[in-house]
Amino acid sequence: MKKALVVANWKCNPSTEREVGKILNEVKRQIRKITNVQVVICPPFLFLPFLREKIKNTKIVLGAQDVFYQGGSFTGEISPKMLKKFGVKYVITGHSERRKLGEDDQIINKKIKSLLELKMNPILCVGETKEMREKEKQFEVVERQILAALRNVKKTLLDNLIIAYEPVWAISTNKGKLCSSDDIMTMKLFIKQLFEKNFGAKISEKIKILYGGSVNDKNIQLVRSAGIDGVLVGGASLNPQKFILILKAFS
Ligand code: 13P
Repeated sequence: MKKALVVANWKCNPSTEREVGKILNEVKRQIRKITNVQVVICPPFLFLPFLREKIKNTKIVLGAQDVFYQGGSFTGEISPKMLKKFGVKYVITGHSERRKLGEDDQIINKKIKSLLELKMNPILCVGETKEMREKEKQFEVVERQILAALRNVKKTLLDNLIIAYEPVWAISTNKGKLCSSDDIMTMKLFIKQLFEKNFGAKISEKIKILYGGSVNDKNIQLVRSAGIDGVLVGGASLNPQKFILILKAFS
């Protein structure tokens, strides 16, 4: 059976290492019973060293919330190679909260390329705004975002890519509403077809598609019923009880 992938995006939380420790101790206590799920936690960069120590001998894998596309004279940035050498396996790329800060398709394309070349796992976030959904342009948006992010990427490297469909209007901090299970399923099929058309049936079959946006312990069964490969969880991943229930739903 294919392992589900559950990714915690802690965003710019929590504020102290002590709080990180509290969340992790609780998750670690309960995670032993979870099987068949790949658990990834993406903390703020500052907490990666602490997290790496804490998750030793657990099934939790290190993830990052972003990366720059190269090393060198780029003040304030972190390179893909640094993350790889540190032990980070998954990197969220093109999150809507970064796009909102000015990250464009070209930059995302560079990030995806460098991550794939290093055999890391980029989690490419795509999804429409409320305005685009109202105009029924969600498929157009997602197609453009995916094709732009994968421009000139070698087909042979796509095995490590993960797509996260995260409608911007569904994110909890935007007072989001959960996307319906039917809509998630329709988008998943659309993305599969897009990959088949552009990169071939083999890649389309393999590509993992996650859903993100207001996922919590109460709606996880509904989300799962859309047949996705896993979830990208924001707010609820900071609450160990809720996060464990989400993991259990896939176990
Ligand atoms: P919420 O789960 O808080 O809606 O956040 C989703 C998200 O942006 C994860 O990347």
